[in-house]
Amino acid sequence: MRSGWDIEEEWVVWVPGAVVALNLACKTALAPGEIVVTPSPIYAPFDDASENMARGMVKNFLIDNNGRMELDFDATEELLCKDTKMLFFCNPHNPGGTVFNQKEITKLVEICEKHNVTICSDEIHCDLILQDDLEHFHLASLNEYAKQNSITILGPCKTFNLAGFPLAASIIPNKELREDFIRNTKGIVSHIDNLAFVASTAAYKYAGEWHKELIEYLKENKKILKEGLNKIDGLSFSGPEAGFLAWVDCRETGLDTPGDFFINHAGVGVYDGSWFGREGYIRLNFGCPRSVLEESIERIQKAFSQRN
Ligand SMILES: Cc1ncc(COP(=O)(O)O)c(C=O)c1O
Repeated sequence: MRSGWDIEEEWVVWVPGAVVALNLACKTALAPGEIVVTPSPIYAPFDDASENMARGMVKNFLIDNNGRMELDFDATEELLCKDTKMLFFCNPHNPGGTVFNQKEITKLVEICEKHNVTICSDEIHCDLILQDDLEHFHLASLNEYAKQNSITILGPCKTFNLAGFPLAASIIPNKELREDFIRNTKGIVSHIDNLAFVASTAAYKYAGEWHKELIEYLKENKKILKEGLNKIDGLSFSGPEAGFLAWVDCRETGLDTPGDFFINHAGVGVYDGSWFGREGYIRLNFGCPRSVLEESIERIQKAFSQRN
């Protein structure tokens, strides 16, 4: 973790990957019959977690505000009933790339406190902020309620491209919640891999300069992609505030599944928005060498120009 938040060592529960933590959070904070509020669109394993753990789920639809995916606070509060015991938060957001600010987090925590809801905050993209005027704010650092009623997920896999070394930190300041979470790992969740731990330690210790260069590289990739895609009629992309994922609005193209068009006609591998629960969009990963990005843009432009 590279952004400032004083945590104590004993709050940290290491798990082999962030998705493991999402599932454990559902099992720990929710009894059978209880419900999690999950943002939508969202990285699909969030949706799967409640189903995997046989818990309830309601979707909290984010609003597309000129390309920035935002929370609808009134709608969020309306979703909370006596059985709603957890809210999933993803900040920075995947797929939208929104960096939720302190004001937004404060509002969200107020609502959760009013309804006594635990928050599971996946902040795995937090070290990839692409705008100089933005900072990541750790939800759990907001106040005592947030601290005592949250599970924060952090890890090196996005920042340092270490997905092959599964490792994530679940940070749980509340002792009782943490002990329940640890109990739920017993016999199911494997120990974390030694090599993953060594690789992650090395990345955090020695890759500071590399990380700075990475951010500049991603900023430039985002700019190039934005220019390239916004030249195409029907596509609209304002760019993520963080991360390497482009959430491209294709609704004006009239394509039912734009992802299929990108894959089959441009030969560019993307995810269709439907995987995240929102049709009419695609998600494209621009965390790649510039040459690959430029070729992808050319292919996409060509495919759209040949569309009749
Ligand atoms: C928000 C978010 N959470 C979790 C994951 C998956 O993390 P892991 O591979 O550590 O399970 C991803 C990967 O794309 C992600 O974007």
